[in-house]
Amino acid sequence: MPTPPTPLAPGPDGPMMLRKLPLILGDTLGFLRWCTEAYGHVVAFPLPSLPVLLVDDPAAARHILVDNHRNWDKGTIQYRTLGLVTGEGLLTSDGETWRRSRRLAQPAFHHGTVERTAEHTVTAGRALTRRWEGLPHGTRVDVAEDMMATTLEVFGASLFGADHGADGDRLVRAVLRALDVVVRRARSPVTAPAAVPTPGNLRLRRALATLDASVASILSQHAARPRGDRADLLSMLLGARDGSAGLTPRQVRDEIVTLVIAGHETVASSLTWTWHLLATHPEAEARLHAELDAVLGGRPPRFADLPHLRVTRQVVEESLRLYPPAWVITRRSLGPDEVAGLAVPAGTLVLISPYVLHRHPGWWADPDAFRPERFAGGAEDAIRQAYLPFGAGPRLCIGRDFALLEATLLLATLAQRFTLTPAGLRPPRLLAQVTIQPRGGLPMHVRRRTAATARAA
Ligand code: HEM
Repeated sequence: MPTPPTPLAPGPDGPMMLRKLPLILGDTLGFLRWCTEAYGHVVAFPLPSLPVLLVDDPAAARHILVDNHRNWDKGTIQYRTLGLVTGEGLLTSDGETWRRSRRLAQPAFHHGTVERTAEHTVTAGRALTRRWEGLPHGTRVDVAEDMMATTLEVFGASLFGADHGADGDRLVRAVLRALDVVVRRARSPVTAPAAVPTPGNLRLRRALATLDASVASILSQHAARPRGDRADLLSMLLGARDGSAGLTPRQVRDEIVTLVIAGHETVASSLTWTWHLLATHPEAEARLHAELDAVLGGRPPRFADLPHLRVTRQVVEESLRLYPPAWVITRRSLGPDEVAGLAVPAGTLVLISPYVLHRHPGWWADPDAFRPERFAGGAEDAIRQAYLPFGAGPRLCIGRDFALLEATLLLATLAQRFTLTPAGLRPPRLLAQVTIQPRGGLPMHVRRRTAATARAA
């Protein structure tokens, strides 16, 4: 029997991992936090074949993601799993392939595109406003579901254009289905290589075939639209294809799928937790309402309002601290390196968890408390060093501005008219999968705010 490698750092041994299995499966985030409390801010896990470290030290995280990023790639279980669906898209590719795609995709996220997203956001927010206004006062809704549907609407319009219609919806459903199949497959204790025709792999093949047919249909529908009509992200990506050095059709497919995965559920997750936090912190909600009433006076928000929606933005930023949708960032070392004073060999896997880092007691005062005013001043060091909701370094989220704008404007559109209160008997339990979701949804009661604030929509 091979001798397990000497652990690089303190951490749970095999029997402890077995004892903690219910926590690992039932509350993954709670388990990661427990590890840092029990063993310190660099924790080694006892995997027989490769060294695995949880890195909860901001300087070490920065070393891996920023200063020495060339030594750390995405050849990890997390990204290999996603890569079964996204191929060589931006999120999962590495090296020269990634550098070229990032250069080609970057212009699609310029100022003008983000500004158009503002319009799509307010349109989708007003559609949900009308739906909630049509409900009897105090109706119970699943906020997680409503946020998912609304961000999907924004995302579809931004990616494919306002008239994206049924094809866009079909594509997003096909992506989410394929993602679900790979996530389930990754959770199974034994996974055969994708080429072996196991039931799981056959399901994956079917899901990918539906997905590829959907992308082909979107692209041909898009090509048939008049050129002047194209001001969406997809047109920008296709524009990047023009010329000999552009994206190939396969790369366009991979980037579309990547954007659906990276850009939809993340924003929905963040807004869902924001509603939960506001409902449980009436004083923060009152400050938010005061700002929305003063800045908007009952009218829908627009792009130009963003610099004035300071409290709204702080609420979004603090919610991203407590519930960062991308709760884990993984990397693998290509060569030996030094991490937090430890010599690590090539092939070391690191987990950097924004969820754990954002609650680091050495960096954040009262780390579990929801205090949006941290982002108004006084926590600059922590924000600079230990706040990574969008990652850091060259792999920083390409959709960061898009996401912050969307979350801020959707929150402003809805919170100026409605107040939500918890409908569940217990606090929501966290389910950490691709993003952090409330287990079983987030039931809340929707109530209109008083007439003074509910002027014309
Ligand atoms: C609240 C919402 C969002 C959060 C929390 C988030 C978080 C992240 C994080 C942490 C990474 C870095 C992963 C790593 O370094 O391993 C990332 C990368 C990425 N995100 Fe986001 N994201 C959000 C919204 C979006 C949106 C709206 C889009 C697109 C419209 C997007 C597209 C991407 C892409 C393409 C990458 C890969 C970038 C690269 O490696 O070059 N994300 N995101």
